[in-house]
Amino acid sequence: MASAAKSRWADAEEDAAFEEKRRREKEKKEEKKRLKALEKAKKEATAEVARKAAAAESRQQQGDAEDDVDSDGRPWKRRRFTPERDDGRRTFSPQNGGPSQGQDGRGGKGITAASEGGLLRLTGGALPEPCRSVERYDKLNDIEEGAYGWVARAKDRSTGEVMALKRLKLDAADRGGVPVTGLREIQLLKDCSHRNIVQLREVVVGDRRPIDNILLVLEFVEHDLKSILEDMPQPFLASEVKTLLRQLAAGVDYLHSRWILHRDLKTSNLLLNNRGQLKIADFGMARYCSEDESPNSSGSSSSSSGGSGHLTPLVVTLWYRAPELLLGARRYGRAVDMWSVGCIFGELLTREPLLQGKNEADELARIFDLCGVPTDASWPGFRRLPNARALRLPPSSAPAASQSTMASIRAKFPLLTTAGCQLLSSLLALDPEQRPTADEMLGHEYFRQDPRAKQEAMFPTFPSKAGQERRRRRNTPNAPQRGAAVAELGSVDFTGIFGGRDKEERGAGFSLRMV
Ligand SMILES: Nc1ncnc2c1ncn2[C@@H]1O[C@H](COP(=O)(O)OP(=O)(O)OP(=O)(O)O)[C@@H](O)[C@H]1O
Ligand SMILES: [Mg+2]
Repeated sequence: MASAAKSRWADAEEDAAFEEKRRREKEKKEEKKRLKALEKAKKEATAEVARKAAAAESRQQQGDAEDDVDSDGRPWKRRRFTPERDDGRRTFSPQNGGPSQGQDGRGGKGITAASEGGLLRLTGGALPEPCRSVERYDKLNDIEEGAYGWVARAKDRSTGEVMALKRLKLDAADRGGVPVTGLREIQLLKDCSHRNIVQLREVVVGDRRPIDNILLVLEFVEHDLKSILEDMPQPFLASEVKTLLRQLAAGVDYLHSRWILHRDLKTSNLLLNNRGQLKIADFGMARYCSEDESPNSSGSSSSSSGGSGHLTPLVVTLWYRAPELLLGARRYGRAVDMWSVGCIFGELLTREPLLQGKNEADELARIFDLCGVPTDASWPGFRRLPNARALRLPPSSAPAASQSTMASIRAKFPLLTTAGCQLLSSLLALDPEQRPTADEMLGHEYFRQDPRAKQEAMFPTFPSKAGQERRRRRNTPNAPQRGAAVAELGSVDFTGIFGGRDKEERGAGFSLRMV
C-alpha cells in the first residue's frame, strides 16, 4: 500500500509546535498592544480632566475677564470688556462722554458717563459699598457753609483722626437720585492718588434720608489758598510762589495724564496744609476728557470741529474761565485748566484775583484788555466759536496778542523775572493750542532760576481758620451751577465798554456789537 510520500523536510510534529509557538507569540503581542492602547487612553483621559480643571481655575482667576473657548472650540459665555491702555490710562468712549475703566491697579470699578448732564451708568459702583454711617464721626465745627455746599471738620470716633466732611450738593432737580456731578466727584477722587490731590477716605451716609445726606470724608487740610491770600499781611515771596505753582502744576499734570479735566481751578479750591503741601480739591466740576482731542484742543481748529464730544462751556468760576469757554466752545481740552493756572499765578503774586469780570462779557473785555485782541494769526479759527460773532474787532493793525500779553504782564508784574513773565503770558495765551501743558510748565526755565522754590518744610505756617471757626464767606463768584443757561454774549450790550479808555497807555481797543 502506497503511503504519501513524505518530504524529507517534513516534520509534522515540529511544524505543529512551531505553529503553536507563533500563534502564542502573536497573541502575546496583540495583548501587549491592547494593554498599551488601554494605558494610553487612560493617560489621555486623566490629562483631559486635569486640563479642563486648570482651564476652569484660570478662568475663575481672571474673573472671566477674557472671552474664552472650551476644548470643543465652542465659545464660553461671551463678555465684552473695554480694553485698557498699556500705559494705565483709561480709554475713553466719546459716544458715552466718559471713560470706560477696566480693572486698574487700585481696584477701580467701571463707570460710564452719558453725555454732559446725563445719567451715569455705574458698572461697578462709585459708592463704596456698603457706605458707613456718618454717626461714626463727631462734628467739631463748620468750615464752610455756602448757598448749596457744606464742609465741616469732624473726628473719627474710632481712631480719633480729624477729617473734613463735605456734603454732596443736591438741588431740587436731584430729588430722584444722586446728581451726575456728585457721582463724578466721588469716582474721580477715588481714582486719584497723588500728594497734590486731596485724598478721599470714604463716603458715608446719614441715617435719615440717606440720599440727601451723602458725605465725602476727606483728609483735613488746614487752609485754603484764598483765605490765606486774603489774610496774609505780605504777599508770598517769589520762592514761595514757585513752591506753590510747582505743586499745582504737578497735581494738574497728574490729573491731565489720567484724562481728567478739573474745570474749576481757583484759589479757594487749592488747600494748603501746615507742612507746605498744596492739594487740589473740589472735583464737583471735573470729568474725564476725550483722548481723541489734542491735549490743548479748543475745538476751534478744523481738525477737531464737528466731532461728537460736546461739553458744556458753562464750567470754571468766571474769573478763572478761559476765553474759548467764554466764546462758547463746546470742544475743549486741558488748556482750560492751564488758563486757570495762569490766573492763579497772577493772584499769588498780587493777592488779588487777576481778571475780576462782572459778567461773561466784562470778563472777556478784561481778558482782551490784558492779552490783546485775538487775530486770525494769533488765534486761528477763533471766529468759528459760537459767541465770536458778537465781537467787533479793530483792524489787524492792533498789536499781536502774544506781544501785547507779554508787555502788559511786564507792566502789571514789575517784580516778576523775564522767565516768570514768559511763563505767565504763555499760560494766558488766548489760543489754547499755545498754552503750555502742565508737564511743559514743570520743565520751564522759571523753576530753574534763582530764587529757587522754597522747600515745603520751610514754608511759613498760618493760623488755621478751618480749625477754629467757620471760614469767612468770600465775595467771589461761585462755580457755575449745573443746568444753568450758557450766557450768550450777543444778548448783552457792549457798546462803549472801553469808553473813555482810549487814552490809556494800554488797552486792546476793541468793541463788541449786538447781533
Ligand atoms: N479737605 C478739606 N479740608 C479742609 N477744608 C476743606 C476741605 N475741603 C474743602 N474745604 C474747605 O471748604 C471749602 C469748600 O469746599 P469745596 O470747594 O470742596 O466745596 P464746594 O461746595 O464745591 O465749594 P464752592 O462751590 O464754593 O467751590 C474750601 O474752599 C475749603 O475752604
Ligand atoms: Mg470749591
